[in-house]
Amino acid sequence: MSRANKVVLAYSGGVDTSVCIPYLKHEWGVKEVITLAVDLGQGDELQSIQQKALKCGADESLVIDAKEEFVTQYAYRAIKANALYENRYPLSTALARPLIAKLLVETAAKYGADAVAHGCTGKGNDQVRFDLAITTLNPSLKILAPAREWRMSREETIAYGEKYGIEFPVKKSSPYSIDCNLLGRSIEAGPLENPMTEPPEEIYLLTKSIQDAPNEPQYVEITFEKGIPVALDGQTLPPVELISRLNEIAGNHGVGRIDMIENRVVGIKSREIYETPALLVLIKAHEDLESLTLTSDVTHYKRAQVDLTYSRLVYEGMWYSPLKEALDVFIDKTQERVSGVVRVKFHKGNAIIVGRQSDNSLYTPSLATYSEDDEFNHKAAEGFIYIWGLASRIWASKTRSS
Ligand code: ARG
Repeated sequence: MSRANKVVLAYSGGVDTSVCIPYLKHEWGVKEVITLAVDLGQGDELQSIQQKALKCGADESLVIDAKEEFVTQYAYRAIKANALYENRYPLSTALARPLIAKLLVETAAKYGADAVAHGCTGKGNDQVRFDLAITTLNPSLKILAPAREWRMSREETIAYGEKYGIEFPVKKSSPYSIDCNLLGRSIEAGPLENPMTEPPEEIYLLTKSIQDAPNEPQYVEITFEKGIPVALDGQTLPPVELISRLNEIAGNHGVGRIDMIENRVVGIKSREIYETPALLVLIKAHEDLESLTLTSDVTHYKRAQVDLTYSRLVYEGMWYSPLKEALDVFIDKTQERVSGVVRVKFHKGNAIIVGRQSDNSLYTPSLATYSEDDEFNHKAAEGFIYIWGLASRIWASKTRSS
């Protein structure tokens, strides 16, 4: 029985998605497989990916360059939300999924496909993100996930592909599972599965070790406009270029490595290593500029209620949910005055914010100063404190007398 007639498959060029092509055709009776590789800045992986897909038996092979959309519609939103899952992971992989899902759905409509497919297993977060995004964007599309059902080991998967003439490079295959795009790299599996094992230096490609980082510090000024980074050292840069340049600078100074145990959506704890130099720096700088330009109540509310929730929503695959969309509106409102410059000092694994300025700065020297220019009304503080502490004093007096 055929599971679908025409399928658009999200294609990375790796073993699993390559084997998906013959599997969909021979096991699940799919007549036509169109592969879609989305260029999100993963670099080498994309080389000759179209020929590769055709060799695996794809009927048509597409590549869409979505780098700019990825930065402006996805990464910028995360920066404005200071989005760090579990306070650490800047969601570099998670942010890519709703965009790939959207392009799958659009391509399916364009080519008259009745299904879309992906190569995710049943244990990860990415299947959740893909499936939720796809069903929200087009509930009538079938979703096929061969790797979630085929129960083949790595060796069996490779053998299956070979049966259908797919050659896998003989170079000894890496024990790691790696996801990579312009925002960073996620690395797991192999020796990293032991949480006590220090990640070997060989896994890192975007960041130097602290030891190899330059001895001299480097300063960079990042300009933000309404919460969005627009320039480095005063030079306005297109979105993709700004991220690439900052990745290089920060990575060169050993900034951007994260080693964490995280809670997956499906309940599993996993150990993942990330390299996300630019994104981490941008979030840190952005957060600092917010401290200068937002009032105390907006800052506290945003950090505690909105930013935390936002990062969880993105991680858990709720990009196209009503709550996420409503929070975007709130966040955009807060960002209207988050413009200015943040000065960052890179040195030996650190990105230290050493200065910030803004035309919308709420920092008021005449109130903050301890010098003779002080204009703050000290006397008024007395009455303020009397009333501010009143309820607590009444409560405490009862405790004492009982
Ligand atoms: N844990 C990260 C996330 O869920 C990355 C997942 C992909 N990682 C990988 N090494 N293939 O967003």
